[in-house]
Amino acid sequence: MVSKQVSPPLHVAVIMDGNGRWARKRGLPRLLGHKVGGENIRPVVKVFAGMGVKYLTLYAFSTENWARPRIEVAGLLRLLAGKVDRETRAFHKENVRLMHLGRLDRLPGKLGQRIEAAIELTRNNTGITLCLAFDYGGRDEIVRAVRDIVNDEIPPEKIDRDSFSLRLYTGGLPDPDLIIRTGGEMRLSNFLIWQAAYSELYFTPVLWPDFGQEEVEEALAKYQQRQRRFGNV
Ligand code: IPE
Ligand code: IPE
Ligand code: MG
Repeated sequence: MVSKQVSPPLHVAVIMDGNGRWARKRGLPRLLGHKVGGENIRPVVKVFAGMGVKYLTLYAFSTENWARPRIEVAGLLRLLAGKVDRETRAFHKENVRLMHLGRLDRLPGKLGQRIEAAIELTRNNTGITLCLAFDYGGRDEIVRAVRDIVNDEIPPEKIDRDSFSLRLYTGGLPDPDLIIRTGGEMRLSNFLIWQAAYSELYFTPVLWPDFGQEEVEEALAKYQQRQRRFGNV
């Protein structure tokens, strides 16, 4: 039970933080940090896939991030739209299966539908599953699941941990084995708060745009030294 990890984590989730500081350090506008951070996604997905990770979740925009200055929110939405339009084909070619965690109903125009189309296109791919958490919040997710249960008039005795988990955005996915946060903060910021119950946490001061192959390898090496006990001895 206390043996170290011999295989790579099945599911890694990353809080991609530090884009703004990366830009500010260089005297650049924050949005440029988001742009460079966005360009870092595809190479990092490749590295994780190459190391045997089967599910990768990336936190790109929280339910609380709508409170940022309007111009930054607009820029982030534009970057997301650009990624969906320009990178879906590339992900598809790389056999990546795309998923989305969070709300689609508050995204502007047809962006929600374009995301659904990308998910549909890549549905049967057998490579890494990439879940993009955009307009995602853990508390929002739990409240939405409770509402669904009440709406469906589920009898209380039918509600248990497994049936509840299935109603979350992550329903059917394994819980994250490892959660990585870049950018130096040591908190979850409303990310996967139900699913993280027994996740290993790894914090690094490296800012997201600088997080590359070496940092991935280091995080996975640290994970393999952890002893997971799940409450046992
Ligand atoms: C993370 O980078 C990306 C989003 C939250 C959208 P930040 O924008 O939070 O960067 P810092 O934390 O201000 O450096
Ligand atoms: C968390 O980062 C959300 C994402 C990385 C998408 P924040 O920058 O929003 O978190 P706080 O405000 O520092 O907790
Ligand atoms: Mg931040």
